[in-house]
Amino acid sequence: MTSVEMRPYDPARDRKATHRIWREVGWIGKDVSEAEAMDYYVACGRALVGTYDGEAECLVLAAPGRMRYLDDDVSLSCITGVTTSRIVRKQGIASRLVARIIAEEAAEGAMLSGLGMFEQGYYNQFGFGSGGYETRIAFDPAHLQVPSKPRVPSRLTADDWQEAHASRLLRRRAHGGCNLLPPAITRAEMADSDDFGLGYRDGEHGELTHYFWCSAKEVEHGPYTVRWTVYQTPEQLLELLSLLKSLGDQVRLVRMMEPPGIQLQDLIRQPFRHMRVTDRSRYEAKIEALAYWQMRICDLKGCLERTRLCGQTLRFNLTLDDPIERFLDESSPWRGLSGEYVVTLGETSGVEKGSDPSLPTLQASVGAFTRMWLGVLPASGLAITDSLSAPPELLDQLDRTLRLPQPHPDWDF
Ligand SMILES: CC(C)(COP(=O)(O)OP(=O)(O)OC[C@H]1O[C@@H](n2cnc3c(N)ncnc32)[C@H](O)[C@@H]1OP(=O)(O)O)[C@@H](O)C(=O)NCCC(=O)NCCS
Repeated sequence: MTSVEMRPYDPARDRKATHRIWREVGWIGKDVSEAEAMDYYVACGRALVGTYDGEAECLVLAAPGRMRYLDDDVSLSCITGVTTSRIVRKQGIASRLVARIIAEEAAEGAMLSGLGMFEQGYYNQFGFGSGGYETRIAFDPAHLQVPSKPRVPSRLTADDWQEAHASRLLRRRAHGGCNLLPPAITRAEMADSDDFGLGYRDGEHGELTHYFWCSAKEVEHGPYTVRWTVYQTPEQLLELLSLLKSLGDQVRLVRMMEPPGIQLQDLIRQPFRHMRVTDRSRYEAKIEALAYWQMRICDLKGCLERTRLCGQTLRFNLTLDDPIERFLDESSPWRGLSGEYVVTLGETSGVEKGSDPSLPTLQASVGAFTRMWLGVLPASGLAITDSLSAPPELLDQLDRTLRLPQPHPDWDF
C-alpha cells in the first residue's frame, strides 16, 4: 500500500506539487505571477505537507501574529491555508496536519490559534470556536455624508507592499485586532494586478499613515471592494471615506467590512431607501453579518496572565475538554488543554491545575471557553448554544466579569 507521509514543506521537492494543489482548489489560476504570490505566502511561516505516492497532496500553513486583548498583545498563530488535492480528500490527511501544525506552533509559544473557516464544524474538531459577526456593507459612495474634497492622495501599487505592511501593523487596533507579522503576507495579498490603493504619507519622515487597498474587477462603475483600511486616528478614517466619496461620480457601489467600533450606516444618506431601490441589482446596497473567523486558546496560562479586567475578582473550577487530543499521538510536543483547573478572573487573572471543592465549576469545550474569554458571547448565551455549562449563579457572575467589547480581528486570514 502507498504510504502517506507528513513532513515540513521543502520548496525543492514540493513547490510544483503544491502549486497543483492550489490550482485544483481554485485558489490560484494558471498565471505564473499567481504561483509566485503563493510562494511568498507559503514562505511566511510554518508549512507542512502530506504526501501520497511521494508527491505533496495536502498543504497546511501557519503564520505568526499578535492579537490585541483589551490593552495587551497575545501571541497568535494563524492557520493561513488548509488545502487537499482532488485525489486524497476524506483520508483524514488535512485533519492530522492541522492538529500537528497547531501543536508545533503551541509548543513554540503561540498562545492562540486563529483562522478563517470555509464552513462551521470542521475546525471545531480541533477546539476552535466561532468569532462574532462581522459586518459587510455595500453602499453608493456618493451617499457618504463626509466632506467631499479630500487632499490629493498618493497612488499605491503592489510594489509598495513593504510600506503598506509596515503601516498596517501600526494601524489603530481595538480588542481582538490582529496583526500577521511577515511582510510577505501583505506582498502576496497585494499581488492581484486589478487592485490599487490610495493613501497619505503623513508620518514624521513621510511614512504611510493611512490608506485603503481596493480591488476593482469592474473598474468603470464598480463594484469596488475595499479589502482593508488602515488608519491611526479618527480624522484619517474620515479622510479615507472622503476619498471613497470623491469616486462617487463614477463608481456606483463600494463594498467593505465595517471598521471596528464604527457603524458606517451613520454616515450614509437614506440607507433604507437605497437598499430598497437597488434590491437584487448589480449595485445592490446592503448590510450583511457573517461569523467567519475562529480562534482557540493554546496556552491557557499565557492568555489568562494577560487578562486584566475591571470589577470584582471571580474564582471557579474549570473542567476543560479539548477535542484536538484525538488527532495527536504521544510523540506530539503539545497535546491540548483537556483537564481540571482553578481559574481567577479579575484585575490580576491566572490559572492553576487542579480543583477546589469550595468553588463552583464551569464545564466547557476549549472553543466555547475561548469565545467567552474573548467576549464573543456571554457565558449565559454559550450555555444555550455551545458546549458550556455552570450553575446559574456562576453564569451570571461570568456575564458580569467578562463585559468586553466585541472582538474584531480587522484582518482577513
Ligand atoms: C477542507 C479540506 C482541506 C478538507 O480536506 P480533507 O483532506 O478532505 O479533510 P479530512 O479528510 O481531514 O477531513 C474530512 C472530514 O471532515 C469532515 N468535515 C468536513 N466539513 C465538516 C464540517 N463543516 N463539520 C464537521 N465535519 C466536517 C468530513 O465529513 C470528513 O469526515 P469523514 O471522513 O468522517 O466524512 C478540502 O476539502 C479542501 O482542500 N477544500 C478546498 C480548500 C478549502 O476550502 N480549504 C479550507 C480553507 S479554511
